[in-house]
Amino acid sequence: MTEIDVKTDHDRLLIVDFGSQVTQLIARRLRELNVYCEIHPFQNVTTDFLTDFAPKAVILSGGPASVIDDASPRPPAEVFSLGVPVLGICYGQQVMMQMLGGEVLRGDGTAEFGRAWVTKTDTATDLLTGWFLETREQVWMSHGDHVARIAPGFEVAGTSPNAPFAVIADTERRFYAVQFHPEVHHTPNGRTLFENFIRIAGFTGDWTMDAYREQAVAKIREQVGDARVICALSGGVDSSVAAVLIHEAIGDQLTCVYVDHGLMRQGESEQVVSMFREHYNLPLIHADESELFLGKLDGVSDPETKRKIIGGLFIDVFQKHADALGGAEFLAQGTLYPDVIESVSFSGGPSVTIKSHHNVGGLPEKMGMKLVEPLRELFKDEVRALGRELGLPDSFIGRHPFPGPGLAIRCPGEITREKLDILRKADAVYIDQIRKHGLYDEIWQAFVAILPVRTVGVMGDGRTYDFACALRAVTSVDGMTADYYPFTHDFLGETATRIINEVKGINRVTYDITSKPPGTIEWE
Ligand code: XMP
Repeated sequence: MTEIDVKTDHDRLLIVDFGSQVTQLIARRLRELNVYCEIHPFQNVTTDFLTDFAPKAVILSGGPASVIDDASPRPPAEVFSLGVPVLGICYGQQVMMQMLGGEVLRGDGTAEFGRAWVTKTDTATDLLTGWFLETREQVWMSHGDHVARIAPGFEVAGTSPNAPFAVIADTERRFYAVQFHPEVHHTPNGRTLFENFIRIAGFTGDWTMDAYREQAVAKIREQVGDARVICALSGGVDSSVAAVLIHEAIGDQLTCVYVDHGLMRQGESEQVVSMFREHYNLPLIHADESELFLGKLDGVSDPETKRKIIGGLFIDVFQKHADALGGAEFLAQGTLYPDVIESVSFSGGPSVTIKSHHNVGGLPEKMGMKLVEPLRELFKDEVRALGRELGLPDSFIGRHPFPGPGLAIRCPGEITREKLDILRKADAVYIDQIRKHGLYDEIWQAFVAILPVRTVGVMGDGRTYDFACALRAVTSVDGMTADYYPFTHDFLGETATRIINEVKGINRVTYDITSKPPGTIEWE
């Protein structure tokens, strides 16, 4: 990736990534401040790249390497002759000092991890405007090596017991560096520091969803021309926002295919089809292929086999409908920025983290189509903001994630129509309960799994022998780790009673209190 992903008319900030675990948070903080930025691994930031990218400011990230090692990663020296402000964070500070004539020493006994307090010196810097309203600022440190001598031109503006050069500044050249991590939440006033930095750099805060929408529409038109585009619309937020945006750009050159695999939740297919067809006037094919999917899944209980069958059929069905349309040159996908970012591992090799199951895996290669990915620059919450900007209802934008294989992976063991039916009803009652108690938005994801076991119960005067189900609700930031949601016993009791009373076929309700890890969010 030596070329710039995104040509944007906005002011751009370049984040040079040296492999810190928290580099993405720098981008998050800046995007929150309406600044357009991109993260690029240090290996890709060549002199040509810098000229091409033309950043209005540069941030050098933290990273696990030691600048004292010969082969340690560095930015090109031109970073310091562009005439733009540069901010070094942790490793970024050390590399800056090393390259500009300071000195860095190995951290024998001076390593510092965790919370620390920075106090001010007599030197004031505009980087710290709004800081030290209290006598000291809490910051989060995580460094082994430390700066022993600062480079000529720099002055110390903040110190901590173990980091005498916690904040340094060369105000004339607009070079700044901090030993701590202002991007993490444990540096509560970190945002102010970024605010100051972008003000110093002259950013106008022009990265808004409204501006983005206009620019994205123009870009899609330019990329696609008169060609046809097809889009696999799942009804999830990403593919929905992508479809509505592309439709705004090219109208009926876009056709969406909604593949109904018979594994959707209660009323979901009707909602998706009516919203996009009637409300948005999107050309939409409702491919009801539930017979095909459920037929092929008949008797299958292994989770991976289920996923493979569903994934394979999805591609076949989509291809069939695309062919029937007379083909298309472009395929639209709702790929997001976190899927695009290459992060850098300690060994220097790129370690790519892509949630492949979020994409329509295998389609582009198989169909030889070019991709239109208008959300490639956005984080999830930006996609939601764009969705709102495009008029998608809040109730839709805030929906919990729903996996591509749908209810198949919430029905451990063999999938039958009877079980799916029961599951849909129980799930609807559970979600209704959560909404009624005003808890929906506090929860990352909530659903029912129907268990492959019948248990004995008693209702009225009679014996029952029905299915047991498990309720799941988790909080999470990104789905990678999760905690179970701490419902009150009253809520759980009331919900269990409602499910058993209202859903024929279930006579026992359990609550899953496993976190991830060691569990996963879905049951399969
Ligand atoms: P797990 O179960 O791995 O799930 O903890 C993490 C998140 O990913 C969703 N998920 C999927 N999403 N296709 C998707 O689009 C899939 O095959 C898939 N599998 C899991 C899951 O719902 C949760 O949000």
